[in-house]
Amino acid sequence: MAFELKNVVPWGRNLDEYIKIFKLTDFDLNSKIISFGDGPASFNSEMTQLGKKVVSLDPIYQFTKAELKQRINETKETVMEQMRTNQEKFVWKNIKNVEELEQIRMGAMSNFVDDFELGKEQQRYVYHELPNSTKYDTLEFDLGLSSHFLILYSQLGLDFHIQSITEMLRISKEIRIFPILNLNTAKSEVLDDIINHFNSDFVVSIESSDYEFQKDGNQMLVIKRK
Ligand SMILES: C[S@@+](CC[C@H](N)C(=O)[O-])C[C@H]1O[C@@H](n2cnc3c(N)ncnc32)[C@H](O)[C@@H]1O
Repeated sequence: MAFELKNVVPWGRNLDEYIKIFKLTDFDLNSKIISFGDGPASFNSEMTQLGKKVVSLDPIYQFTKAELKQRINETKETVMEQMRTNQEKFVWKNIKNVEELEQIRMGAMSNFVDDFELGKEQQRYVYHELPNSTKYDTLEFDLGLSSHFLILYSQLGLDFHIQSITEMLRISKEIRIFPILNLNTAKSEVLDDIINHFNSDFVVSIESSDYEFQKDGNQMLVIKRK
């Protein structure tokens, strides 16, 4: 099925959130990072401003800056309305209230939009759709990340996840995926089978995160080479 802009609801996090989500240390931040399904997050833009190295992959990078900006503006009110209706489903700890959430999300996405064309030119924003293979060399990256895509969208199925994670592990020495819940804030249906699949050839662990927005969504899956 073609990836169409009308089905995209852009929603992006910032560097401070990524640091908490993945417990990124100074050592991690100075390593070579690739981030899958990075969408309109400002992680890449903020990291680049600090002189760090991040490549972001996402299908939305096939669209133009103007198209993405327009789509962000079109969907903003609907998403914020849903957030107001479902407030009690979230933990207001890292983010204090709906107003702050709107400020943080819109700030992150505006930062992304401003950086998009330059970043695309510099091959920091690269159009890519999982579970397809990437153009990168084996173990080209130190750290591969997936924030709010893999495992969360469990409806994509186990095969999609195994194929996607296999490719992430081909090009990255270590990967981290957050959260390990599904969209209904229950344990993701694909989690146990993913762990069982990679357990024999890799070191697989569930580790705590410093971030919690979905209730009980404060853990990440970490897979490293033996
Ligand atoms: C909820 S957003 C998360 C964005 C960002 N990682 C963050 O945490 O702020 C999910 C992202 O997954 C992307 N996505 C959807 N299908 C994908 C696929 N097949 N491969 C990679 N990314 C995909 C979407 O375009 C979207 O940007």
